[in-house]
Amino acid sequence: MPKLSDSLTIKGVTLRNRIVMPPMANDLSDESGAVTSRHLDHYRARAEAEVGLIIVEHSYITPRGKMTAPQLGIHDDGLVPGLRGLADTIRAGGAASAIQLTHAGANTTAEIIGCQPVGPADVAVPGRGVEPRPLSADELSELIGLYRDAARRAIEAGFDAIEIHGAHGFLLSEFLSPYTNRRTDEYGGSLENRLRFPLEVITAVREVAGPDYPLLYRFGASDFMQEGLALDEAREAAPRLVGVGIDILDVSGGLCGSRPKDLSGVQGFYVPLAESIKSVVDVPVIAVGGIREASFANSVIEDGRADLVAVGRELLKNPDWAREALASLQ
Ligand SMILES: Cc1cc2nc3c(=O)[nH]c(=O)nc-3n(C[C@H](O)[C@H](O)[C@H](O)COP(=O)(O)O)c2cc1C
Repeated sequence: MPKLSDSLTIKGVTLRNRIVMPPMANDLSDESGAVTSRHLDHYRARAEAEVGLIIVEHSYITPRGKMTAPQLGIHDDGLVPGLRGLADTIRAGGAASAIQLTHAGANTTAEIIGCQPVGPADVAVPGRGVEPRPLSADELSELIGLYRDAARRAIEAGFDAIEIHGAHGFLLSEFLSPYTNRRTDEYGGSLENRLRFPLEVITAVREVAGPDYPLLYRFGASDFMQEGLALDEAREAAPRLVGVGIDILDVSGGLCGSRPKDLSGVQGFYVPLAESIKSVVDVPVIAVGGIREASFANSVIEDGRADLVAVGRELLKNPDWAREALASLQ
């Protein structure tokens, strides 16, 4: 079995080890969504300190899909030079780079986006209490075009990979979740129908990216709530995501406020989700959730529970986490 320090190559992109910095919004932009020098400093510090893959935080594909005012954007061609500087900075540090494309769906407010938030149906995501306006089929087609444009910008900017956000109550997970998706057209109801929009988005992004470019999907594999998406449905969905072009599944969970209770102190709290999804797909899987210790991260890889481990808050606290972890395992 591989170790934490082993490299992994996906479609010609080599990750120097199995440590991933997961997407973590840090609201370092301004209303324009542009990359700032603070983004460069933030990501440079982790790239230079041995992280294998840095997935840049959620970046909105349209201002109507923003979650916070100073969020990073990828919705306009004018942002590409700044994004290129960010991709170059990460590469110069020796890490591979991806950027997460998002639409917040109902996981935002009218104050942020200037109009009523949208979603698959008029059901608020937990923790928000904002009733969204259901999207029409025509609007879904427009959104697919916006994902496609955002993907083109990510590639033009030189990112090694793209991650599509399909977790945490953002738009694509709202479509997959039976809790938020109460539609009665071909985009709601059965698992097949709830998967339709996410699959159409992935297919469009794959068309832009071509066959040889790595695509990741942040996959919310359980909502951990009554009437929400359960792991057994996620296990049916996962091979479908791979079937339309996903190369790495970045497994997470929870529909906004519906995270499993009492997770504080539990190391690897979503590793069982990743392990379960890994058993039904033939692509690498990322595991995440409260990972603090190098020995634990290494055991996840050595025990074959996942192919990569994401370390979020520990890397925020300590930019040198990956370097120190790898040194401690030698
Ligand atoms: C400040 C912060 C911002 C986050 N932003 C995002 C995000 O933009 N996209 C995403 O998919 N997850 C986001 N997450 C979730 C993380 O990627 C990660 O899954 C979570 O923090 C659990 O990992 P950890 O316990 O190692 O921190 C965020 C988490 C934190 C703490």
